[in-house]
This record gives sequence, C-alpha cells and structure tokens, in this order.
Amino acid sequence: MRIIMLGAPGAGKGTQAKKIAEKYQIPHISTGDIFRSNIKEGTELGRKAKEYMDQGALVPDELTIGMLMDRIRKGDCAKGYVLDGFPRTIPQAESLKKALSEMEQKIDFAINVDVPDEKIIDRMAGRRACIACGATYHIVYNPSRVPDVCDVCGAGLVLRNDDKPETVKKRLSVYHDQTKPLIDYYKEAGVLVNIDGTQELNKVFSDIADLLGA
Ligand code: AP5
Ligand code: ZN
Repeated sequence: MRIIMLGAPGAGKGTQAKKIAEKYQIPHISTGDIFRSNIKEGTELGRKAKEYMDQGALVPDELTIGMLMDRIRKGDCAKGYVLDGFPRTIPQAESLKKALSEMEQKIDFAINVDVPDEKIIDRMAGRRACIACGATYHIVYNPSRVPDVCDVCGAGLVLRNDDKPETVKKRLSVYHDQTKPLIDYYKEAGVLVNIDGTQELNKVFSDIADLLGA
C-alpha cells in the first residue's frame, strides 16, 4: 500500500503516519525527519536544508526530489510506504508520478488530515520532540510519561526550532501557497480522502484505519 499524507504543518501527519506504518508494517518516510537527521549529523545536505527550515521556507526541489526518489527505490519499500511531508509542491508530485509509472506502481491513497489554521498554532506551541530519536509529544494532548523526558529512549524533549510562533505563521503561508494545491491534484487523480484531523488522535487513526481496511 502506497500512501501520501497531506495536511498543514502540525495537522498530525507524522503522528498518524507512524501509526499507519506500525499497523500495516510499511516504512514511514518523512522528508522532515530525513533533513533533521542530516542536520544532527552535520552533513552538507543538512547544512543546506537548515537555512531554509529555520526560516519556515521549503527546501528547494533540487535537494528534496532526488533524496526521496533514492529512498523509495530501497528494498524495504517493495510492499509500500507512507510518505509524510512529500510531495509538498506540484513539481514534487509530478516527479513522484513519473518515477512511480517507471516502476509500474501507483499511489493508493492521499490522506488529507484537515485541521483549520487556528488550531495549528496551539498544536505546534505544545509539541515537544526528542533530541535523540525524534519521537514527538504534545504537552497537553499527548504528554510523555515524565515531563520533558522521551518515553522511547529517555533523552530530553525540546521545542523544535521551527515551532516558534513567527516561524509557524510563515510555514502556514507556505503551505497555503505551495502545498494546498496538491489536494485538488490528488482529487483529480481519484485517490484523495479527507479526514477530520481536529478529533482526538486515536479517533483520527480509527477513521484512517476504517478507510484503509484490514
Ligand atoms: P516537516 O517535518 O514535514 O514538518 P510539517 O509538515 O510542517 O509537519 P510537522 O512535522 O510540523 O507536523 P505534523 O503534521 O507531522 O504534525 P504532528 O503529528 O507532529 O517539515 C519541516 C520542514 O522541512 C519544512 O518546513 C521544510 O522546510 C522542510 N521540508 C520537509 N519536507 C519537505 C519537502 N518535501 N520539500 C521541501 N521542504 C521540505 O502533530 C503536531 C502536534 O500536535 C504534536 O505535538 C502532536 O502530538 C499533536 N497532535 C497530533 N494529532 C493530534 C490530535 N488529533 N489532537 C491533538 N493533538 C494532536
Ligand atoms: Zn527519544
């Protein structure tokens, strides 16, 4: 099963993508996570990506598309995957379509996790991410067992650099300009499904699981 997660920054794409990956035993591929791990390791790609991410801007397609294409050609993607944060522009979607048709594959579902902008700021301000393993929490909606300590690995939790309110506003405007048009793009392709992302996170997941089937 090949799935794309669509939705505004902070809509809950990552939270749901992890649950889908676990339930259906397919890789969760997050371009944001790949960039963040490159930043942590101090690679050239990470250094370039950081300049854009810290401003709330998109990393240029030239850096993003090739990286994602290499990833989906790996052996663990044979059964499918859940893409989180890619595609984010029409050129990215077109590149994906071309690469998939060369492999005689197609996207099965583009899941749009719908959350209005007003709720987004609240979600981002309360999000905490693990400095070591990248697990994410929310101080109110999805707290760690011990405050500021990761349940998975025991490392510390921090506010992501791009989750400061000024940067979140910029990310939302980039989303509306460049990423939202993908909703119509996948609607026309006949694979779009809308999910109400304002519900409690387990309810959001049960709606997605109903849709994807056993
Ligand atoms: P990326 O990491 O992809 O960030 P994003 O799309 O902005 O998405 P987020 O990770 O912020 O949010 P999410 O929707 O996954 O929400 P989450 O589940 O964490 O990208 C970061 C940057 O990298 C971009 O700005 C760009 O610069 C660059 N980049 C990445 N991909 C790129 C690409 N393809 N092209 C170019 N540049 C790219 O949830 C948010 C919070 O809410 C959490 O605290 C969570 O616990 C909580 N929450 C989740 N669901 C619920 C719920 N139902 N109820 C209550 N709380 C909830
Ligand atoms: Zn951790």
